Amino acid sequence: MSRKINKKVIEKDLKKEKDFRVRRSEKYSRLRGMKDILFDEYKYWNLVLKKATDLSATYSFSHIDTPILEKLDLFERSTGKETDIVSKEMYNFIDKSGDRVALRPEATPGLVRAYVEHGMFNLPQPVKMFWLGPLFRHEKPQSGRLRQFNQYDLEMFGDPSPVADAQLILVAYNFFSELQIDVQIQINSIGCKECRTEYGKKLLDYYKERGKRAKLCVDCKKRITKNPMRLLDCKEPSCQSVREDAPQIVDFLCDGCREHFIKVLEYLDELDIPYNLNPFLVRGLDYYNRTVFEIFTVGEEEADADKRQSALGGGGRYDELVELMGGRPTPACGFGIGLERVINKIKEKNIPIKEDKENFIFLAQLGDQGKRKAFALFEELRKAGFKIRQAFTKDSLKTQLEEADRAGAKYTLILGQKELLDGTIILRDMESGTQEVVDYKKIIFELNKRIEGNKN
Ligand code: HAM
Repeated sequence: MSRKINKKVIEKDLKKEKDFRVRRSEKYSRLRGMKDILFDEYKYWNLVLKKATDLSATYSFSHIDTPILEKLDLFERSTGKETDIVSKEMYNFIDKSGDRVALRPEATPGLVRAYVEHGMFNLPQPVKMFWLGPLFRHEKPQSGRLRQFNQYDLEMFGDPSPVADAQLILVAYNFFSELQIDVQIQINSIGCKECRTEYGKKLLDYYKERGKRAKLCVDCKKRITKNPMRLLDCKEPSCQSVREDAPQIVDFLCDGCREHFIKVLEYLDELDIPYNLNPFLVRGLDYYNRTVFEIFTVGEEEADADKRQSALGGGGRYDELVELMGGRPTPACGFGIGLERVINKIKEKNIPIKEDKENFIFLAQLGDQGKRKAFALFEELRKAGFKIRQAFTKDSLKTQLEEADRAGAKYTLILGQKELLDGTIILRDMESGTQEVVDYKKIIFELNKRIEGNKN
C-alpha cells in the first residue's frame, strides 16, 4: 500500500517538475489592449508631452497628479453607476484590507476628490489643474482603443463664466493645431437639471411612439425610462436612425443655460475656432451639465459611426460634481485628450517631427590607454557643460564613427595611442569629414569656439 502511494506521489512530483520546466520556457506577452512604448516611439511622446506641458503653463494650469488606484465608490458616485465606463469597463477588485478599489478609468473624479480633500476652495479661484497619466478601461481593444491609455486633462474649478469653457476649448484646439492636426469641435449644451426634466419627458414620449421602441438595441430598451438622453449617444446604427427626428435639447434650454451657450459660441467665433453644433452630443458620463464637446479630426466626425472610438478628446462643464463629492458648490469644467490617438494621427498623417538638434560631441577612443583617458575626459567635458555621447563598450573606431554618425553628432573627438603620446586629440567635423589635430590641453577652448549655445 505504502509503495503504491509513494509511486503516485513521485509521479505527481515529476509532473509538477515537468509543468514548471514548460512554464519556465514559455514567453510572456503583454495583456490584451496594453502597449509597450519602445525606443523609436518616444520621439512622438516627447513631442506631445512637451506641447501639453508648455501650453498648460502658458494658460496658467498647474501640474497635479493623483493615485492610479482609488475607491471604487468614487467612480460609482461621480462617473455614474449606469455608465458603460463604470458598469462594464472598470478594473475593480477587493484589496487585501477588504476595500473595494478600482484602477482609475478617468481622471476627473480623482481630481475633484483632490480639490475637496485638500480644501482647494480656500485657494484663489479659479483653480486650474493640468494632469497627465494612464487610465484603464476594459473595453474591446482595437485600433485607437486600448485598455491602458494616457490622457492629457485640464480642469478648471471655481469659474462659472462661459469664458472658462471657451478657454479650455481654445487650449485643446491650440494643442492640435500646433501639432499640425486639423480638428473640428463638436459642441452642444445639455442644459441644467431643470431644462433636462422637461426635455426628458418629451424625449420619452418620442421614443414611446409606435414602432420606435422595437428598433432600439437591448441596452437602449433598458435605458429608455431611466435615462432617455443616453439613447442619443448610442452607437448602434438602428438606434441612430430612430433618433434622427428626436426633439433637440437646445429647444428646451432655460434662459440661463441658453445665454451661457450662446456666449461660449460667440467666444469660439471670435477666436476663429471651427465648431459644429451637434444636438445629439450628450457624452457618456453622468456629471456633465451645460457645455459638452468632443474633438475630431476634420473629415472624420461623420465617417465613423462609433464616435467614441475616433474622438481625440472630449469634455465639458460639471457644475454639480464638487458638491456631489462632498465639497462646497463649485462650478467646474475640463477636458481629456487621448494621447495614443493623437500619436496615431501624427504617424498616420506623416506629420514631420522636428527633432531637437543638439549638436552634441561624440568621444571615440582606441586602445586600452585611450579608453582609460577618454573615460576621464568624458566626465570633464560633461561637467564643463557639453552635450557629449560615447560608446566605450566598442573597440573599433569604424563602429564608433558609424554610431556617432547615426546619432547625429556634430563633432567627434578621437583619442588613441598616438594622440596620448603626442598630447593631442583629433577633432573631426562629422558633416565635412575634415579632421584637425588639437592640443589636448586646449580641447575645451577649441570646442567652446565651435559650439555656441549648445551647452546644457
Ligand atoms: P472621455 O470622452 O471618456 O472623457 O475620454 C476622453 C478621451 O480619451 C477620448 O476622446 C479618447 O481620445 C480617449 N480615450 C477614451 N477611451 C480610450 C481608450 N479605451 N483607448 C484610447 N483612448 C481612449 C473623459 O475621460 C473625461 N474625464 C474628460 C473630461 C475631463 N471631462 C471633463 N474633464
